[in-house]
Amino acid sequence: MVTTLRAAGAQDASAVARILIDTRAAFMPYAPAAHSDDEIREWVAHGLVPGGGLIVAERDGRIVGAMATGIGHDGAWITQMAVNPAQVGHGVGSELLAHALRTLPRPIRLHTFQANLGARRFYERFGFVATVFSDGRNNEERCPDILYVLAAPSHEAGDSCQLQAERPGHH
Ligand SMILES: CC(C)(COP(=O)(O)OP(=O)(O)OC[C@H]1O[C@@H](n2cnc3c(N)ncnc32)[C@H](O)[C@@H]1OP(=O)(O)O)[C@@H](O)C(=O)NCCC(=O)NCCS
Repeated sequence: MVTTLRAAGAQDASAVARILIDTRAAFMPYAPAAHSDDEIREWVAHGLVPGGGLIVAERDGRIVGAMATGIGHDGAWITQMAVNPAQVGHGVGSELLAHALRTLPRPIRLHTFQANLGARRFYERFGFVATVFSDGRNNEERCPDILYVLAAPSHEAGDSCQLQAERPGHH
């Protein structure tokens, strides 16, 4: 199956919001969304999409996945990663993550919930290392989470002691 990756535009906002809402409902019963569906749609349309760094994955002309990334003073972050529940386990997430690894500077950081065992396996397969376990007091859902880090190769490492720096988002 051919997957096309491209930067998201305003026309993609409702499809991306749908995926974020549906994955949360389908796979994260332990972390109910802290916002209503309408609030999520509003945030995607007026915050996430215009903010840049949002990539959508298409198969057969339909959006089947989305990934948001950003670069802060402490390196790169993956702030959103979600695949349509009907399409999980068919390689879409791997294509999105491989794109992030090709394009982002190291270190790359992300948060995931401790209970999200599938996502933890997924990130660890790509070399991310569980670095800081927290009780969830710093995320909106108050759900225990993990900071994962994909460090620079040792000859490029420079700021690997700043692992607890500010967190620009959560997913
Ligand atoms: C995690 C996720 C982005 C991976 O994308 P994907 O296209 O399903 O992944 P791929 O097909 O490329 O790779 C398969 C791996 O994804 C993970 N995975 C599969 N289904 C999953 C699910 N329902 N929830 C979480 N991870 C899942 C597993 O690690 C799986 O490998 P395994 O079965 O050998 O353990 C996707 O499953 C998803 O959106 N899950 C729900 C939302 C989520 O957990 N997002 C990440 C938040 S940090």
